[in-house]
Amino acid sequence: MADPFYITTAIHYPNGRPHIGHAYEMIAADAIARFQRQQGRDVFFQTGTDEHGLKMVKTARDRDMTARELADEMSSYFSEMAEKLDISCDRFIRTSEADHYKASQAIWQAMADAGDLYLDRYEGWYSVRDEAFYEEKELVEGEGGEKLSPQGTPVEWTAEETWFFKLSKYEKPLLDFYAANPDFIRPESRRNEILRFVEGGLADLSVSRTSFDWGVPVPGSPGHVMYVWVDALTNYLTGAGYPDDQERLARYWPADIHLIGKDIVRFHAVYWPAFLMSAKIALPKQVFGHGFMLYRDRKISKSELAQMERPPVVDPLALADYYGVDALRYFLLRDVSFGQDGSFSDEAIVTRANADLSNSFGNLAQRTLSFIAKNCEGKVETGRVEEADGVLIAEVENACGGFIRAFEDLALSQGVELWMAGVFACNAYIDAQAPWGLRKTDPERMHAVLNTLLRAIRRLAVTIAPVVPGSAQKLLDQLGPQGDADFRIAPPTPIFPRLELRQEP
Ligand code: ME8
Ligand code: MG
Repeated sequence: MADPFYITTAIHYPNGRPHIGHAYEMIAADAIARFQRQQGRDVFFQTGTDEHGLKMVKTARDRDMTARELADEMSSYFSEMAEKLDISCDRFIRTSEADHYKASQAIWQAMADAGDLYLDRYEGWYSVRDEAFYEEKELVEGEGGEKLSPQGTPVEWTAEETWFFKLSKYEKPLLDFYAANPDFIRPESRRNEILRFVEGGLADLSVSRTSFDWGVPVPGSPGHVMYVWVDALTNYLTGAGYPDDQERLARYWPADIHLIGKDIVRFHAVYWPAFLMSAKIALPKQVFGHGFMLYRDRKISKSELAQMERPPVVDPLALADYYGVDALRYFLLRDVSFGQDGSFSDEAIVTRANADLSNSFGNLAQRTLSFIAKNCEGKVETGRVEEADGVLIAEVENACGGFIRAFEDLALSQGVELWMAGVFACNAYIDAQAPWGLRKTDPERMHAVLNTLLRAIRRLAVTIAPVVPGSAQKLLDQLGPQGDADFRIAPPTPIFPRLELRQEP
């Protein structure tokens, strides 16, 4: 049986429509999932929506609807986005689903059984936008002197009776765990932030709310719903069959990668492993905190988009409709160094897609296939092989091997860059061998050149498929199955047409 591989994205608050930052996270996770499937792993890939909490309650109130109505409406935009962007998720989870309530109550019970929960009064700062508690010492000052969270979001004072989780008890076990598992938090910069935070001392965490009722009820404690992050993090276990499906759990848990944005590493690398230690459940293997997508040097956020009057230029569906899903996917994975922030603009998408896809890879495939369709009745023979042919195949193998090693290590943009070296090698080869000149003078040699190109292009298309799945498949269809003597290459339509800049909406 194939080796399992469980990858998750963060689950999105459906308090607004998705923007390109959410698209980015899903696309990166999807490329990894597709890549691992290609490597033969039994992949389970989960994404979804995080529907409870005060932010949902307040946004719904502003729109004169219930939180559940808001969640139903907005969650569908996220699942629709997943479909349009070719996201191959195996489950799109909604935290309002029944099996998720069950999992959340089970982990709560396990933490209670461990003696890690107690009732007390919470008084302190809360950011609704972050759904996070902050200590006084963490707050920063805004331009008007107001207090802000370290993420720059407003904070409010809250005071209520809540359940507490003994997070302080896990300070030492967490530090030991980080030391023993240096790859648990990636990239390195995020790991260092977390180490500093935990070394600074952990206060117990308020884990229930009584001032609203939109959440998972705390077992045996009427009036309390779970703090939204307790149930949100548990979605990863729900998807793996917790608590009842032991066989599924044994297969997919612990998760291989939680892919999330850098703003929520603390929840995933401190709170989540502490909850799991308490509940005596294995810890995930890795938390990867990617960077932000910026537009005009600012982080794109749902809360800010909601206040924009013009239709946002960062709508991933409009971008995919206009430029094509794969141009968008390619741009995001190639241009953004994985783990760092990346800037988005229409110009950057067009420049990148035209240079790499249209002018280089697309043009290579287009001129090779149309030449074969036109001059060889769609079919090539082995011909007279020369040394240059083997050299090209080795270069392409090397480039594709580089892609594979980079993707194993989540160096996504580097992988794509290495792959491009294979495309460049093919273009240099086609220019040097000039098959169009051989047509009359040396058809046997021409056949060998074209045959070599077909092999190389097929290999390149298979390798890049996790990044541009739809286009790679179309190209593979044009190339036909390897070794099929009856297949004839038809005059091709370009897979990567040249893109024109759209008028900013
Ligand atoms: O944080 N660029 O949900 P969310 C890149 N529900 N990534 C971005 C981004 C941007 N401009 N803006 C947001 C939550 N993201 C919680 C998660 S997980 C158990 C619960 C990323 O809708 C963000 O970092 O605010 C996060 O990983 C994801 O989008 C969802 O953000
Ligand atoms: Mg957010």
